[in-house]
Amino acid sequence: GNVVLRTEDLSFGREFALGERVNLAFHAGEITALTGKNGVGKSTLALTLAGLLKPISGRVSMDESMVPAHRENNVFTWKSRDLLGRIGMVFQEPEHQFVTSSVRDEVAVGPKSMGKTDDEAYAIADMMLERLNLKRFAPANPFTLSGGEKRRLSVASMLAAAPKVLVMDEPTFGQDFTTWTEMVRLIAGARDAGCSVIMVTHDEPLIEALGARRILVSEGE
Ligand SMILES: Nc1ncnc2c1ncn2[C@@H]1O[C@H](COP(=O)(O)OP(=O)(O)O)[C@@H](O)[C@H]1O
Ligand SMILES: [Mg+2]
Repeated sequence: GNVVLRTEDLSFGREFALGERVNLAFHAGEITALTGKNGVGKSTLALTLAGLLKPISGRVSMDESMVPAHRENNVFTWKSRDLLGRIGMVFQEPEHQFVTSSVRDEVAVGPKSMGKTDDEAYAIADMMLERLNLKRFAPANPFTLSGGEKRRLSVASMLAAAPKVLVMDEPTFGQDFTTWTEMVRLIAGARDAGCSVIMVTHDEPLIEALGARRILVSEGE
């Protein structure tokens, strides 16, 4: 597919640059795996790609057709409502993104804010909860789930919102074989629907199952 997201001479990091002059293009219907050693900056790069962390220099931009009205083509300058439906992020610590007090509501938030009716949004939520083996927790508070369940919930919520670009930080961490397999199917489904999926991962079977393009993040490169 077309390029949906790109980095232009991007330097990313916090106090100092972890990577400089990074030029990458991410396509619709493509899965990219960001791999590399611990501490090298994968999560920092992921947050920068998702428009949540300010580049030190350069920019992250989207295809012109996806730029919201009255915004410049620099995803960091966009408001959260601009990012909605365009770029979704699954954080390395999933509790950072919970915004409701029930698992079912949590998954319905994205579809609702994308203009679905409540009935449609809850139908999507129920399907996601069923597929990711979270149905029995539907009324529970997201914060009461185990680590692996929280991660599944954050993946479910972001998939439900169907963004053009989905950035996920270690999505399969803590999953058993059944939930892992269903997650692979859901990610493949998002790709087939044209989403550009970018995942930080150490999960080799995941990379192979999805035939993902690999980008190795290494010190200074
Ligand atoms: N919130 C933060 N504030 C300051 N430094 C951070 C923060 N988060 C991570 N770092 C530092 O940035 C570097 C890269 O971290 P990170 O992007 O989390 O690496 P990775 O995901 O590849 O393990 C590390 O040296 C880490 O200590
Ligand atoms: Mg990380």
